[in-house]
Amino acid sequence: MSEPLDLQGRHIVLGMSGGVACFKSAELARELQRQGATVQVVMTEAATQFITALTMQALTNRNVYVSQWDTREPNAMAHINLTREADAVLVAPASADFMAKLATGRADELLSLLCLARPIERCPLLLAPAMNREMWAHPATQRNLAQLRADGCTILGPAAGDQACGEIGDGRMLEALELCAEMIAFFQPKPLAGRRVLITAGPTFEAIDPVRGITNLSSGKMGFAIARAAQEAGAAVTLVAGPVHLDTPRHVRRIDVQSAQQMHDAVLPLAAQHDVFVATAAVADWRPAECGAQKIKKDGSGRVPTIPMTENPDILAAVARLPARPYCVGFAAESHDLARHAREKRLRKNVPLIVGNLGPATFGRDDNALLLVDERGERELPRAGKLALARALVAEIATRL
Ligand code: C5P
Repeated sequence: MSEPLDLQGRHIVLGMSGGVACFKSAELARELQRQGATVQVVMTEAATQFITALTMQALTNRNVYVSQWDTREPNAMAHINLTREADAVLVAPASADFMAKLATGRADELLSLLCLARPIERCPLLLAPAMNREMWAHPATQRNLAQLRADGCTILGPAAGDQACGEIGDGRMLEALELCAEMIAFFQPKPLAGRRVLITAGPTFEAIDPVRGITNLSSGKMGFAIARAAQEAGAAVTLVAGPVHLDTPRHVRRIDVQSAQQMHDAVLPLAAQHDVFVATAAVADWRPAECGAQKIKKDGSGRVPTIPMTENPDILAAVARLPARPYCVGFAAESHDLARHAREKRLRKNVPLIVGNLGPATFGRDDNALLLVDERGERELPRAGKLALARALVAEIATRL
């Protein structure tokens, strides 16, 4: 299945100012291209002390620009030409000195000149700060940062952690993969800006004894993809996850739970503070009535234990009953008669939208196909990657709010 890459058709000017984090920009240039972007590198003189222009040229297959006096452009105006076709300028690393320069509108070398001369309405400027923690925390840097934000710049990071100087704190440049994810998110439409979205994902685990339990084959991938898509669409996202082995999407608040009861207890107090609730979790319908304190032992007699079961609370139905309920979206994982079961489930759970999918054809996979059922009828989202489907679903939800 070939879907367009997330940065397909995007042209990005990758600016690099002087900092040891320049080594990460080599990987970043490759990652942006792997996602479909074309990358034009522009470096300050200081950046070339950390990594060569030759390396960046070889990685991007394009001439690298360092000087405003470069005469390779026919009109000798690299500072104008380079941003006219660009979808964004990303400066990574952005040093403290470079940010100070931008904040005051100075333009005494090519990269700052180019940032100042870019068409501000259609060529956004993103900065990935990279500096020592004291430099980052300094009032002058923080003042510059506030000014840059007020001027419309988007600031990516920085992260906290070990620094090249041996100190520990804020100021590390984000990693290449993180910056690439930030760029992808930046270009997504923002129909959920200002909205709050609550999502459940993954299976639940219902303990039988301290070492055994009942669970299911849900991987959590669909729910995590929806969390990422909703965040990219501008929402503040809370993700309540059963036991899964997945990384938390960037900027998503994650609450880990095990059992259906724990998921219920985490979701219910939060639900009314959210605009949307998407229940993707494959919640166990029943749980062992009691969880023994000790492991149930095989006694050699051939007798098998009988495990009395009790019903779990229905989280989605409980949220849908709240007086101040969010817009509720349920999932129906069926093995047959998808449309009919989805329609019935919508009425039974009293929710405005049910998303049907064929369980055996999606569990654990990276792709899926969805059937949206609401009071107006049905709409198919044909087989695609889960992130692509999640983005389409998020767009559909946004039109219904
Ligand atoms: O009733 P059924 O399990 O088929 O309904 C599926 C939908 O209800 C999903 O959205 C699922 O996350 C949600 N659900 C729930 N709590 C349960 C069972 C299902 O929130 N105990």
